[in-house]
Amino acid sequence: MPANAFSAANPVVLIGAGNMGGAMLSGWLKSGVPGSSVVVVDPGPSPAMLATIADAGASHVTTAPDGLKAGVLFLAVKPQVMEAVLPAVKSVVGPQTVVVSVAAGKTLAFLEKHLGEAAMVRAMPNTPAMVGRGVTGAFANARVSAKQRDGVNALLRVSGPVEWVPAESDIDSVTALSGSGPAYVFYLVECMAEAGRKLGLQADLAMRLARETVAGAGELLHQSPDDAARLRQNVTSPGGTTAAALSVLMAEDGMQPLFDQALAAARKRAEELAG
Ligand SMILES: NC(=O)c1ccc[n+]([C@@H]2O[C@H](COP(=O)([O-])OP(=O)(O)OC[C@H]3O[C@@H](n4cnc5c(N)ncnc54)[C@H](OP(=O)(O)O)[C@@H]3O)[C@@H](O)[C@H]2O)c1
Repeated sequence: MPANAFSAANPVVLIGAGNMGGAMLSGWLKSGVPGSSVVVVDPGPSPAMLATIADAGASHVTTAPDGLKAGVLFLAVKPQVMEAVLPAVKSVVGPQTVVVSVAAGKTLAFLEKHLGEAAMVRAMPNTPAMVGRGVTGAFANARVSAKQRDGVNALLRVSGPVEWVPAESDIDSVTALSGSGPAYVFYLVECMAEAGRKLGLQADLAMRLARETVAGAGELLHQSPDDAARLRQNVTSPGGTTAAALSVLMAEDGMQPLFDQALAAARKRAEELAG
């Protein structure tokens, strides 16, 4: 089921066209999913999103109409409203439907409780999806056929690489690493800028330097065939300035134990939110 295999008779039904749903929709349309095969269910999308939907020839409805059956039912509403939303979209699920949820913490058991047994995928994208540079972890239950998985992979792939994990519980670890990860990197920028300011640079200059350094290093990592450790070694001359800084960051009480604690806290929170 490649992206162009969807049609009005086998539609992608998107529930929630906010930040994440809207980013996915824009990616689908750019990657060749026909607009006529997309039905967006959202009580009040932004004017920009409504224009995107109209320009693409996709449909917008405020509630799922009777008789609509999805090829893919893509759930992109906030976890807090999921319980209220699911009964209203249950009718969209038929024998051919694969349900995809990107809602943090909502388990497949929770979805099955409200939608019945179905082919289901739990996916965790991240915010760089907004610029087509996300990464998604995904888990499929045993009801998902190889063809359905290919179709879902094509839909998720528009925001960046998709990594399929072997166990649903791995999604909580994916959430802790890549789902929440962009915030860690943004905070790294803040810490670097603040440290630069303390060395005497003007605050706004320090922020520009930190921001471009992290963005540029990310782009280098993206484009280079070398892994992160090799790239780090490439800029670390023995006895030089980078080595001096890394001796602090890589000390026993440096960044690794902090990240161990941070990701463990995020995973624990994901487990607590599970429902
Ligand atoms: N943003 C991220 O970084 C990220 C990353 C990974 C996963 N996710 C997941 O993606 C999901 C959506 O997050 P988001 O940041 O995109 O939230 P969002 O911007 O609030 O988008 C949710 C959309 O759903 C709409 N909506 C509310 N009730 C609805 C209903 N009954 N039927 C249909 N649509 C309804 C909302 O409309 P109103 O605004 O009018 O309420 C809004 O347009 C969440 O479950 C989140 O866990 C997000």
